[in-house]
Amino acid sequence: MGGVSARLEDLPLRADLRGQTPYGAPQAALPVALNVNENTHPVPQDVADDILDSIARALHDVNRYPDREFTALREGFADYLGHGLTREQLWAANGSNEVLQHILQAFAGPGRTAFGFSPTYSMYPLLTRGTGAQWVSGTRGDDYTLDASDAAAQVADGAPDVVFLCAPNNPTGTPLALDVVEAVYDATDGIVIVDEAYFEFAPADARSALTLLPGRERLVVSRTMSKAFAFAGARVGYLAADPALIDALRLVRLPYHLSALTQAAASAALRHAPVMLGMVDEIVAQRDRISATVEALGYTAHESWTNFVLFGDVDDPATTWRALYDQGVLIRDVGIPHHLRVTAGTADETTAFLDALASVGSAA
Ligand SMILES: Cc1ncc(COP(=O)(O)O)c(C=O)c1O
Repeated sequence: MGGVSARLEDLPLRADLRGQTPYGAPQAALPVALNVNENTHPVPQDVADDILDSIARALHDVNRYPDREFTALREGFADYLGHGLTREQLWAANGSNEVLQHILQAFAGPGRTAFGFSPTYSMYPLLTRGTGAQWVSGTRGDDYTLDASDAAAQVADGAPDVVFLCAPNNPTGTPLALDVVEAVYDATDGIVIVDEAYFEFAPADARSALTLLPGRERLVVSRTMSKAFAFAGARVGYLAADPALIDALRLVRLPYHLSALTQAAASAALRHAPVMLGMVDEIVAQRDRISATVEALGYTAHESWTNFVLFGDVDDPATTWRALYDQGVLIRDVGIPHHLRVTAGTADETTAFLDALASVGSAA
């Protein structure tokens, strides 16, 4: 097709999408990429071989549509999560982004609102607006924490249809106490999503919001294989909730939304959960090393229960980001004044980041 292409303004785009910016974390081919909270450890070879065998078997039947109910995979997730969950309470999609989109398609949409406590995961507003709903931001306390009674009051005030609680929170790393979930749930008639994308990096004795599911039919706990499971490229996220809520998601998903190859790969990976999760302790050690070292360099590291660290007291984040980029290290400017965020990498990647940061000079 030749000629000059049209401009976006010339197309009959939905009025509520005009002027919006798509998700756009830079995907630059730098030697040390620590900007999107991936697990930078590859899947171990013997596990990768077994996953490949499963995909190869699935390929024999790829002329047929896959199991629309991804039954084996839901059973795999129920087993992995424990807490007495059954497959009727599980749902999955292509990344937890799609899982969250399904919830918003069913429970948000035109004339409705979704609410989250800023700063939080940047996709929540985008996914919300994509369904035609409005995004409403609440506020956090000191060091980005949430207090139960304050959070509940904000939610009661906003009367949203969907509430996002990111636990622990991206981009700040902040843990979320379960009394906040309980108080927010009681303060709304809407859906409450606890996004536990980074839960596996929390201390071993941390309690999951999964423990709050019994008796709370509007509560959803979402997880992903993208982080601790080192499976970001496979695109698999999942959630646990009441079976009635799962039924609502069937109304909005595309038929056969999880390909046979994805289902085979994810089920195989789950069979190797302990090995797949084997690098979590090492990543947590690198995260804590980052926190201690950036503090020693004069920055402030915020408490993190994730695989990344948000650090403050950065004089000029754009300049520091660029200086690191020029040394082959990609981190994230999340738009919080005087802050930058870095993912914990392998020991070598983490060293490369810390050395580069030390070389760009002191904090503000
Ligand atoms: C808090 C949070 N939720 C969800 C996601 C989406 O992950 P995925 O779609 O890869 O499962 C991310 C990714 O960075 C995240 O930080």
